[in-house]
Amino acid sequence: MTKAPEAILLVGGRGTRLRPLTVNTPKPMVPAAGVPFLAHQLARARAAGVEHIVLATSYLAEVFEPYFGDGSALGLRIDYVTEREPLGTGGAIRNVASHLESGPDDPVLIFNGDILTGLDIGALVGTHVTTGADVSLHLSRVEDPRAFGLVPTDASGRVLAFLEKPQTPEEIVTDQINAGAYVFRRRIIDSIPTGRPVSVERETFPGLLESGAHLQGMVDSTYWLDLGTPQAFVRGSADLVLGHAPSPAVPGRCGEHLVLPGAEVAEDAKLTGGTVIGEGAVIGEGARVGGSTVLAGAVIAPGAVVTDSLVGVSARVGARTVLDGAVIGDGAVVGADNELRDGVRVWCGAVLPDGAVRFSSDQ
Ligand code: GDD
Ligand code: MG
Repeated sequence: MTKAPEAILLVGGRGTRLRPLTVNTPKPMVPAAGVPFLAHQLARARAAGVEHIVLATSYLAEVFEPYFGDGSALGLRIDYVTEREPLGTGGAIRNVASHLESGPDDPVLIFNGDILTGLDIGALVGTHVTTGADVSLHLSRVEDPRAFGLVPTDASGRVLAFLEKPQTPEEIVTDQINAGAYVFRRRIIDSIPTGRPVSVERETFPGLLESGAHLQGMVDSTYWLDLGTPQAFVRGSADLVLGHAPSPAVPGRCGEHLVLPGAEVAEDAKLTGGTVIGEGAVIGEGARVGGSTVLAGAVIAPGAVVTDSLVGVSARVGARTVLDGAVIGDGAVVGADNELRDGVRVWCGAVLPDGAVRFSSDQ
């Protein structure tokens, strides 16, 4: 493997599509498989040989440093840079340039802060170095590319265009998308304009292509998921617990469930499909929890059935209530005998009485 360079992690987004999970917590700090999601990315970068990481923060910036400190516990050196106003992805990259230690032609890794992937980071750096590219991008193939940046390449992998979030069917020219991991030649970072918001996807990449720069794509069909929506986040956490998504930071052995210290689970409760039960959470008798994340201090009452859902910090789910594809915000209370399905989001602190919402008749 080529020696891995230093890395920038973009963690300043508002995580709007994840609300209410991101009302009190920035997206990278929402727990996945029992630890803030960012811990998985840091551990994977470290395992690839990265030693110095700069976190580009903006939204709820103050919570990162108290948790990760100087990074020494992870074998890393972490610097924190906070934007006064969000600068966009490209602006955030430019804004941390003064903290980089790389020379003008050295490779610098850049990661979106919400991607769970088995990418071989060393192979991406290797591709970058051997092709002599200015920027190299990890590309993934997806069925519906509309929510992503489309990246058509020629037979050698050289990038032909960059189309962020295509609007028309004619723009959907490939199923290869920007998977949110790049290697930049250091001097390219220094060439991004300062002092104003810049989108790396809408401005920097198209501008570089226009000027004849060499952008190289590396298609890698390993595990890949953008954790930007509640459904994806819950899926990603479960896949970490099940061992489908690789991370050295999962606190425990992989399997059907992960129960963190201090949680209380009734003997006849069933935990399956990569379910995580957070510190101090309580799972009542006969409850069934599958493919779900129950955060610290939450309570699942007896007989409740929770599937592919996320239950926030200290939230309560009443007896016999059914959750399927639901998100319950921190501190919310869902009374007994409710039925909540299909992407419903209960806001932080909201209170739903017993028997208040159903998707089916009560017979
Ligand atoms: N510091 C900082 N400042 N970070 C930001 C800002 C900002 O103003 N805006 C966004 N970010 C961070 C987010 O926290 C996230 O980690 C990353 O940049 C990407 O932002 P998202 O909001 O998650 O973008 P997306 O998912 O819609 O699209 C991006 O990711 C796709 C892959 O998941 C694009 O890069 C697409 O091209 C790509 O396909
Ligand atoms: Mg995203």
